[in-house]
Amino acid sequence: STLGASAAERGGRYFGAAIAANKLSDSTYVTILNREFNSVTAENEMKWDATEPSRGSFNYTNGDRIANHAIGRGMKIRGHALLWHSQQPGWAQSLSGSTLRSAALNHVTQVATHYRGKIHSWDVVNEAFADGSGGGRRDSNLQRTGNDWIEAAFRAARAADPAAKLCYNDYNTDGINAKSTGIYNMVADFKARGVPIDCVGFQSHLSNSVPGDYQANLQRFANLGVDVQITELDISGSNQASVYASVVRSCLAVARCTGITVWGIRDSDSWRTGQNPLLFDSGGNKKAAYTSVLNAL
Ligand code: XIL
Repeated sequence: STLGASAAERGGRYFGAAIAANKLSDSTYVTILNREFNSVTAENEMKWDATEPSRGSFNYTNGDRIANHAIGRGMKIRGHALLWHSQQPGWAQSLSGSTLRSAALNHVTQVATHYRGKIHSWDVVNEAFADGSGGGRRDSNLQRTGNDWIEAAFRAARAADPAAKLCYNDYNTDGINAKSTGIYNMVADFKARGVPIDCVGFQSHLSNSVPGDYQANLQRFANLGVDVQITELDISGSNQASVYASVVRSCLAVARCTGITVWGIRDSDSWRTGQNPLLFDSGGNKKAAYTSVLNAL
């Protein structure tokens, strides 16, 4: 079987990969993509710097390449990411206050409208919480526009694409810790006040181990009434195969864990250069981690 087909048999879940538009002409890459995966995320092509290189002027060329590849083959699309402190175009980096606020919300509206009806889940806001023990927001130009910028973004995304599931996505949130608890409190508050949020993404960039409370952490978010998704999985280290299996088993054990995305296809495609954190080697061969995942599914 394949990753996508096996995940689909497990309660209609998806198994996805982050992909790059400029690799869609690489036949080894596309063969694996089309055989194994039933969801895609644009690794960079739907980010703010790619989609709005100058203010009010939008470029969807590479994002559309990825979307069209997926739609033509019945794959789901995770939209990534509408607002983030990183990979902002230079013009946005130089704005602040109400000017940045309206430019950011316009960006959400425009991009979500362009892809309306095509996106399974949008990462509306990416990485807005700080690392460490404080449990609060990360300082960023967006955060300095007002603490309610996140809910404003979610409301704008819902208005633009009512069918898309709207996710908050972050890293170092894989166990129960101050950062994940800060996000948990935000999601609880959004649910209590009717701010539209449907899912939380756990990037899960892991190094040789997974927190013992990984499943419990997914479950506590699910208990708030949102779906949870593993959105950018990659795992370095000698325990790679067994850690991959643990992550898969944790997702399957949580009814509202609806899918898993790995952050690239072959080790040579990974942003973690030299760490070989993915399921296929640089030649496109299945690794032990691949077999471990497939057996866990
Ligand atoms: C990474 C891409 O993989 C790289 O190609 C790019 O240079 C930087 O961004 N968290 C995220 C992703 O949400 O968007 C990041 O992707 C990896 C960390």
